[in-house]
Amino acid sequence: MDHPPVPPTALPFQHAFDAETFRANGHRVIDMLADYLDAASSGTPMPVLPWLEPQAMVDSWPGDFPEEPTGALHDILQLVVREANHLHHPRYMGHQVPGPLPAAALCDMVGALLNNGMAVYEMGMSGTAMECRVIAWMAQLLGFDSQADGVLTSGGSIGNLTAFLAMRHAKGADSSDKLPAVLVSDQAHYSVRRAVKIMGWGDDGAITVPCDAQFKLCVDALPERLRHAESLGRRVIGVVGSACTTPTGTYDPLDAIADFCAANDLWLHVDAAHGAPAALSETYRPLLRGVERADSVVFDAHKMLLMPALVTAVLFRNGDDSYRAFEQRASYLFVKSPREEWYNIGHRTIECTKRMLSLKVYTALMCYGTRFFADYVTRQYDLARRFATMLREAPDFELAAEPEANIVCFRHTPNGAGDLDAAGLFMRTTLINPLTTEEHLVVLLACIREEAKRAREEV
Ligand SMILES: Cc1ncc(COP(=O)(O)O)c(C=O)c1O
Repeated sequence: MDHPPVPPTALPFQHAFDAETFRANGHRVIDMLADYLDAASSGTPMPVLPWLEPQAMVDSWPGDFPEEPTGALHDILQLVVREANHLHHPRYMGHQVPGPLPAAALCDMVGALLNNGMAVYEMGMSGTAMECRVIAWMAQLLGFDSQADGVLTSGGSIGNLTAFLAMRHAKGADSSDKLPAVLVSDQAHYSVRRAVKIMGWGDDGAITVPCDAQFKLCVDALPERLRHAESLGRRVIGVVGSACTTPTGTYDPLDAIADFCAANDLWLHVDAAHGAPAALSETYRPLLRGVERADSVVFDAHKMLLMPALVTAVLFRNGDDSYRAFEQRASYLFVKSPREEWYNIGHRTIECTKRMLSLKVYTALMCYGTRFFADYVTRQYDLARRFATMLREAPDFELAAEPEANIVCFRHTPNGAGDLDAAGLFMRTTLINPLTTEEHLVVLLACIREEAKRAREEV
């Protein structure tokens, strides 16, 4: 059957690609975002998180999409900004997600418009080049030599899975009779156990290693845990160290874990999603001692490098391991071996198409210089220590652990130390915003006291 002729590109499509409309919309959006940034970053009194219950939020967003155009672009964007969790506000001190560098957000916009995602080189030539440069810089920062290699991927969770797949292959555990397992502390991020489950290793695929009073993995417990895993019929192929842990920001003793791995022929994976950038700081680099002995490391740039989500590096000390995770053929895309086609990065990532992840990291490093990031990490880690001192000096607060990174866990004990009412109610803050100062922390403690008083009066 003959297909009717396709009309030449014209209405109704052309107007959606009109350059002048884009220019006008773009100026308007940037003006709105600049006003927002000005208000948020200068600490204008406003709710940092304008909370709405989840169902009420869904109900407030119509789902009946119109058949005809509405020109709603600006209204929708304005509403999103208004309803956002305002991460640039200096009183934002919640999760491990920064108010990103505005210049990096601009890079994301350029990357989105060009859409040069890059499973294959021809679909992202400059992105591939920048990715190579960013990976080499990160690897060198962690103390790896020129044999190291790696990829950028979408988040620490996918990063951990990617590293585990490479570990399994490198350790010949793809086809062994026994199910593999890794040893990991109970403080590790949940994505570690999730990766183990995704690989089909079951509950015993992650054998828990206890932590000491500072929440550091107990290296002395490793031999017994190894025997325990073997008694369950498991073949242990690696140990996971956290640098740092998510709940308390504690760095595991990587050097000692590396000794254990070397003595037992085990893969060392370091989840440094949050804490890898400490390597930039002269003061805090020692926290990562031993990371250069890891077989694989996960390094999130959307945490302590102030990038918009998501951009994660998976780094391998032996660059060949970067090709092990996904050995597979796709002859319509890839012709030669993965190693020969190092420039077709899709050989080595879970993603086929991915965003132009490298652009913002590369550009920010070039624009601001590495010292900017070194100073940022040092400042935030210093601020956490200062906050810990404030908490220690306050008669009605208790610190869970001395902070090593910029994550602080503490609780309110209005009836003094050992207050049973407060038992278990630890709060956690991540001092990730460089605009947050000691004064904001004083206000935070005052707000917690006020809130607790109100709650007591209500009872
Ligand atoms: C130590 C650690 N690993 C992994 C992750 C997961 O990273 P992402 O949120 O980028 O998937 C996190 C996130 O909080 C983390 O703290």
